[in-house]
Amino acid sequence: MDHIISPSLLAANFGRLEEDIELVNSSVADWLHLDIMDGVFVPNISFGFPVIEHIKRISKKPLDTHLMIVDPDRYLSRFRDAGASILTVHYEACNHLNRTVHEIRKLGMKAGVSLNPHTPAALLRDILPYIDMVLIMTVNPGFGGQSFIEQSYHKISELKDMVKSINPDVLIEVDGGVDSSNALRLIETGVDVLVAGSSVFGTDDPVRAIADLKNLQ
Ligand code: DX5
Ligand code: ZN
Repeated sequence: MDHIISPSLLAANFGRLEEDIELVNSSVADWLHLDIMDGVFVPNISFGFPVIEHIKRISKKPLDTHLMIVDPDRYLSRFRDAGASILTVHYEACNHLNRTVHEIRKLGMKAGVSLNPHTPAALLRDILPYIDMVLIMTVNPGFGGQSFIEQSYHKISELKDMVKSINPDVLIEVDGGVDSSNALRLIETGVDVLVAGSSVFGTDDPVRAIADLKNLQ
């Protein structure tokens, strides 16, 4: 399978969001990554439902929605109604993860589970049969523009082995510090989906940066 590119809108210019979403529409990006932060699970606040609804009206790409919020169960149907296609919750934020991922799928979305850098991949063993994607955080969540944590390669390899033996349909996504210097090695290690914020919107030509991440060599 060709790998998927999911540009993170967090690094876009919020003063001209529409233009930046149109850039993604015109690119070879597969998804659009939205970071939802509540100021409790992570030390930052991003944006909420009215903004997601606005993005949904403009975006031609499926919304890959990454919830960095506590108690996400309270809002699952609202994210579906706002336009999320893939809904990823954090392992660390869910007391009843099995129930949460079933609910996400019941609402018609793909279910993802994300791990903070300190959370071992082995903890996902019993949830893998019920989910569509694992998002490995390769920085501490909360902010764009941080440096990639090198230790992540070990975690991705370990997760890839588990995915192969338990549920080969599960996609592995990485998020944080992804750029042209590490993208190829990440794909070779077993990653299916690259999220990229600064390395796309921080350049003069985001459409080209997306194409470069898609056509790795
Ligand atoms: C960080 C977010 C990321 C962020 C990545 O908590 O989950 O999606 O936008 O930004 P870069 O690619 O700049 O590290
Ligand atoms: Zn993210």
